[in-house]
Amino acid sequence: MPFPPLLFRPVVTMASAKAYMSNIVRIESLGYSYPPLDANDQPEWVLRDINLEVSEGEFVSIMGATGVGKTTLCMALNGIVPQSTGGIIRGNVIVDGFNTKRHPVADLAQRVGVVFQEPETQLFNVSVEAEVAFGLESLGVPRVEIANQVTWALSVVGMSEFRERSPFKLSGGQKQRVAIASILAMSPKILVLDEPTASLDPLGKTEVFSIVRELRQQRGMTIIMVEHESERIAEFSDRVIVLSDGSAKIVDTPANVFSRATEMQALGLSVPQVSELAHRLNRRNNTNYVFTQFEETYLALTENARPDSRSST
Ligand SMILES: Nc1ncnc2c1ncn2[C@@H]1O[C@H](COP(=O)(O)OP(=O)(O)OP(=O)(O)O)[C@@H](O)[C@H]1O
Ligand SMILES: [Mg+2]
Repeated sequence: MPFPPLLFRPVVTMASAKAYMSNIVRIESLGYSYPPLDANDQPEWVLRDINLEVSEGEFVSIMGATGVGKTTLCMALNGIVPQSTGGIIRGNVIVDGFNTKRHPVADLAQRVGVVFQEPETQLFNVSVEAEVAFGLESLGVPRVEIANQVTWALSVVGMSEFRERSPFKLSGGQKQRVAIASILAMSPKILVLDEPTASLDPLGKTEVFSIVRELRQQRGMTIIMVEHESERIAEFSDRVIVLSDGSAKIVDTPANVFSRATEMQALGLSVPQVSELAHRLNRRNNTNYVFTQFEETYLALTENARPDSRSST
């Protein structure tokens, strides 16, 4: 099913549409410093020089050590940084053709939705329905249109039967699904998720990941997700961005990123166990294995272990 028509998006001319069709997100030399505690302090650049282009429909994961600026980068994608946080920004963030410096957060929310780590902090209405309707209500969207959007968004996340329920009486995974629905109701093309499963149990994690996968595969959404679990990243992502020292230090496919096991570990980041296994086998046996997922590892190793495969080479 395609996205419902978006009645509230300003008209975009063909010429400007062409300019951003391929790169739906463009980050150019982004630097950002939160406001210093003391006005006389020098700015501390959390983000120093981020350059990144994300294609429409791409799934990009962001990794980086604690405090490296992952959440700050997510907030820069929908204009919260710097519009709500203040501070100093340099460079540009352009999402779906809109420069985040020049458009209010409410306008940007219709193009890029951000889901944060703790579902509790994102829910504050009395019912699931009110929660999902909230963003559209604040834009003054007609009631019938809101009801349709809410019905659609709740069905996408499999929460239709919880419409009347208080969000606070849901499990962690269900809360996060409602948080995602409230973002989807605004029909953004880009979904940014900041460690959306960090506080969830394994079932909740699986629920959220399968919704994100479906949004990407069935609906062509562009996904940017901060995540620590390298196995999940390997399973879902087209590209991985490794943030370090305020810039995108590595930008590559999961296979290429996770084959740099030593470098990743030096940055305090994990790689899938099978990538670590490939790294060790390569060092010991002078092989060139690149593994990121269990199945391919099993197939490669069992194939090589077969007596007839040895004799045929
Ligand atoms: N509102 C704020 N004011 C001042 N400094 C802040 C503020 N929010 C975050 N910081 C600082 O900016 C840096 C980056 O924080 P951020 O939350 O973006 O990192 P992160 O990579 O998301 O960390 P984590 O892995 O813990 O989620 C940290 O040094 C943090 O202390
Ligand atoms: Mg964070």
